[in-house]
Amino acid sequence: MQERIKELVDILNKANVEYYLNDNPFLSDNEYDSLLNELAHLEEKYPEYKLPDSPTSKVATKVISKFEKVRHNTPMFSLSNVFNEEEVTDFYQKIVKDYPNSEFVCELKMDGLAVSLNYEKGIFVRAATRGDGVVGEDITHNVKMIKTLPLKLNKPVDLEVRGEIFMSKKSFNECNAKREIEGLPLFQNPRNAAAGSIRQLDSKIAKERDLDIYLYHIPSTTYKTHYETMEYIKELGLPVNPNLKLAKSLNDILDYIDYWTTNRPNLPYEIDGIVLKLNDIESQNALGSTAKYPKWATAYKFPAEEVITKLSDIIFTVGRTGQITPNAVLEPIKVAGSTVKRATLHNMEYIKAKDLKIGDYVYLHKAGDVIPEVVGPVISRRNGNEKILQMIKNCPICNTPLVKSNSEIDYFCPNDLCPARNIEGLVHFVSRNAMNIDGLGDRIMEDFYNMGIIKNFKDIYELKKRKQELIELEGFGTKSVENLLDSIEESKNNSLERLLFALGIPGIGQKTATILAKKYKDIDNLKNANEEELQQINDIGEILACNVSTFFASPANRILIRELQELGINTTYHGEETIENDIFTNKKFVLTGTLSFIKRDELKKIIEKYNGEVSSAVSSKTDVVIAGADPGSKYDKAVSLNIEIWNEEQIRKILEDLKEI
Ligand code: IVH
Repeated sequence: MQERIKELVDILNKANVEYYLNDNPFLSDNEYDSLLNELAHLEEKYPEYKLPDSPTSKVATKVISKFEKVRHNTPMFSLSNVFNEEEVTDFYQKIVKDYPNSEFVCELKMDGLAVSLNYEKGIFVRAATRGDGVVGEDITHNVKMIKTLPLKLNKPVDLEVRGEIFMSKKSFNECNAKREIEGLPLFQNPRNAAAGSIRQLDSKIAKERDLDIYLYHIPSTTYKTHYETMEYIKELGLPVNPNLKLAKSLNDILDYIDYWTTNRPNLPYEIDGIVLKLNDIESQNALGSTAKYPKWATAYKFPAEEVITKLSDIIFTVGRTGQITPNAVLEPIKVAGSTVKRATLHNMEYIKAKDLKIGDYVYLHKAGDVIPEVVGPVISRRNGNEKILQMIKNCPICNTPLVKSNSEIDYFCPNDLCPARNIEGLVHFVSRNAMNIDGLGDRIMEDFYNMGIIKNFKDIYELKKRKQELIELEGFGTKSVENLLDSIEESKNNSLERLLFALGIPGIGQKTATILAKKYKDIDNLKNANEEELQQINDIGEILACNVSTFFASPANRILIRELQELGINTTYHGEETIENDIFTNKKFVLTGTLSFIKRDELKKIIEKYNGEVSSAVSSKTDVVIAGADPGSKYDKAVSLNIEIWNEEQIRKILEDLKEI
């Protein structure tokens, strides 16, 4: 029996490879199904003989209870970006200067999600998402369902290999067509659909969704070149994108980019750029990486797609502070992977500067590939019927006459009781950086406000009294109400700075809220601070000091604070919050030499804030040595122990990216 099981597994796995990878089926669907059936029966009868690479594990689905964390053996890097020919040339020349005659591998940049796979003795054992690059999440159960991924390699090797999970355009369209029939919300683009399928506890969904994968990187390859490594990945039986190319010159690279810029629409899947990788592995290692990116590779990103659509109207919305914002109402159009119907136009000056009129055809793109932005009107398509926007005089929600800001640019609704302002204020109160309450999105908040369930901050904390009523509301269930109430309870323990930010005092952002919380420790101390005293604090000017003291002088606000305290909301400062990131967290640093832009003490504090450790001596346990000018013997020791060294430029860049300097 064991023999037959093995035989069936071999035939069926081979049939899978030929069918999905080589487009060369040798079994009919019927033959395949009947062999698979036979195997499933035998495995059921003799579970002790079931093989780890059995194709039945691609059939039987698995439900997990939560995503386990997985620490990557080597960090999963992202790629730096270049956006035009000049930057590609720069990248190329910088490398060729030190490594003359270098060759590069050009690859398509798959628009999916990165994954790290582990095989042990040739058998697939684990798949993990990138996560923060150091720790990802175990998605083995879903990745197993990818039809083109073999569960057994052609060689019994231990392997960590990386690639991209994606969904073809065809599967994406089919998936959305099905969702439309079922009345489910549609996915915006194939990447979202792929990511949504992978982030499921039940692998039945990934199985139905028809995902695909290409592998493109082995972190610890033993081959001399990336090209040979890719050949090896193929030999192992893993899917590799066939369009990779070896470029021997800058011209070859630019030709490849040109070719795919034109031919991109003909591909059966979405790509968002071209990846360039230095071919020689020894040179790759010598070049090394920054904290985030390898220096031997980069991604050329295709220019942001620009489309033309009609600006059918401009409507005004009211923000939490009463600020009035004009918004473009656009004829829905697909741009950079999603459908856009609205875009902010910021203020009247912006509209004037761009010469936008209602009825115009406008150029539209996504800034940073995310936020829709109206670029300007297509003047040649004007027909004379376009209308200049007139600023409104009254609040579109409560009809109160608007007032102008000091800068004379913005308009405000001055009515503290304006429903639009109140709803925005409530949405801000629960938002992630404020009280961080899950389950009260914009829509729900608006509904709750209109139904009279939440009219003010206090009502949020009294929701638990209305648990049964909430459960009975349409669209809610016991579980979601319980999760919401748990999240509300949890938010009571937030440190003071979150509450100060959440209250929405004009001009008080996260940074100022933290400064005030640190200085006053308790809201009861802060509420009695006078304006002069507040002005003495660094970073707090006249206006902010006035806003804070005005807020706390208001009897209504003093009552609000007291009521929140009575409801059990913490109003004290917890102390320095540590933040996790993949650059500093859980790593040991040693500082040596002088840095021109920051004192050692300050740098130490920043590293500790991110849960990193700073020690005085270099040892094999040290992760990184940060070396300024005239470093001492610690530098030599780091070199001899092969420890990563960051110079002044690198640490400055990291701190700048983190907005620490
Ligand atoms: S190589 C150390 N090659 O693009 C090398 N990445 O923006 C790591 N990607 O995180 C990546 N196609 O998820 C590489 N052919 C390709 C790729 C590719 C898509 C993704 C990958 C990466 C992201 C960076």
